[in-house]
Amino acid sequence: MRPSATPAMEPLDLEQYLSHHRALVEEALAQRLPWQAAPSERLNAAMRYSLLGGGKRLRPILVLACTEALGHRPERFLPFACAMECIHTYSLIHDDLPAMDDDALRRGRPTCHKQFDEATAILAGDALLTLAFELAAQPIAGVDPLESLGLIQLLAQGAGMGGMVGGQMLDMLSEKKQLSLEELKTVHACKTGALIRVACVAGARLGGGTPEQRERLANYGAAIGLAFQITDDILDETGDSRLLGKATGQDQQSAKATYPRLLGLHNARQEAEHQVAQAISSLEPFTSQADPLRHLARFVLTRTH
Ligand code: IPE
Ligand code: IPE
Ligand code: MG
Ligand code: MG
Ligand code: MG
Repeated sequence: MRPSATPAMEPLDLEQYLSHHRALVEEALAQRLPWQAAPSERLNAAMRYSLLGGGKRLRPILVLACTEALGHRPERFLPFACAMECIHTYSLIHDDLPAMDDDALRRGRPTCHKQFDEATAILAGDALLTLAFELAAQPIAGVDPLESLGLIQLLAQGAGMGGMVGGQMLDMLSEKKQLSLEELKTVHACKTGALIRVACVAGARLGGGTPEQRERLANYGAAIGLAFQITDDILDETGDSRLLGKATGQDQQSAKATYPRLLGLHNARQEAEHQVAQAISSLEPFTSQADPLRHLARFVLTRTH
């Protein structure tokens, strides 16, 4: 048997893994979106349109994959995983608004405000954010309620002023500005990295990881989170809009602060590769149960959508 300290990457059909886990998440999302709960059918429709309309489901899959890395079956943790996707989807709806990135295409379809209207899109985002905390507060068999409380706090920190929302503010303020590399790293680590890191830490904590395992999964999440946004910037310049399901060339048009703009495509790619290598090395002591995480880290670099 291979010693667990030096696991090689086992062959894994990542496509199959992703589609299996995406199906788990999507079924759970469809069940948990309380479509009879809102007094407004229009609000219901807008929430369902955005939440159930595609996407890679990376953040909830990371929650599940981290629990699997610690030897668990993932199903129990689906409510928390769904909470992550609700926050992410809300962030996309608001990110696409005319006051922010002003985008018309998302996940291969008209953005929420184009399909409905701006007020509905703002409210659908608000309601998804709120729903996320309702889901995160659901008791999970085998998880101490005090641990759940800590995770709700963690989720709020990752999503809020010190994390994603703070990063989105920096992103807007950085348009047409020349940032230093350190400043740009902060923007990306906050607007995208924070939530991805939270997904991994949450998985580590839900799975009862030791402090060292938690720290390693936190480092893994922070590194792939940064790599994910660098790749997003690269794909905005080089990707295929049909595969991405969103328009390309938008960052240049808004003069966004991006890695390719600051470093050039080649160096931006190298930085993303460096982050992914760091992420994979954070997983060193984990057994082959962490192989999906190792493959997911590579996927962050090689993805075309
Ligand atoms: C897009 O996220 C926004 C960023 C943080 C870069 P994803 O690329 O994960 O979008 P979906 O969920 O797959 O649509
Ligand atoms: C979005 O970054 C980060 C979020 C928190 C939503 P982008 O603005 O680059 O994401 P896309 O390219 O529109 O998906
Ligand atoms: Mg944006
Ligand atoms: Mg955008
Ligand atoms: Mg982008």
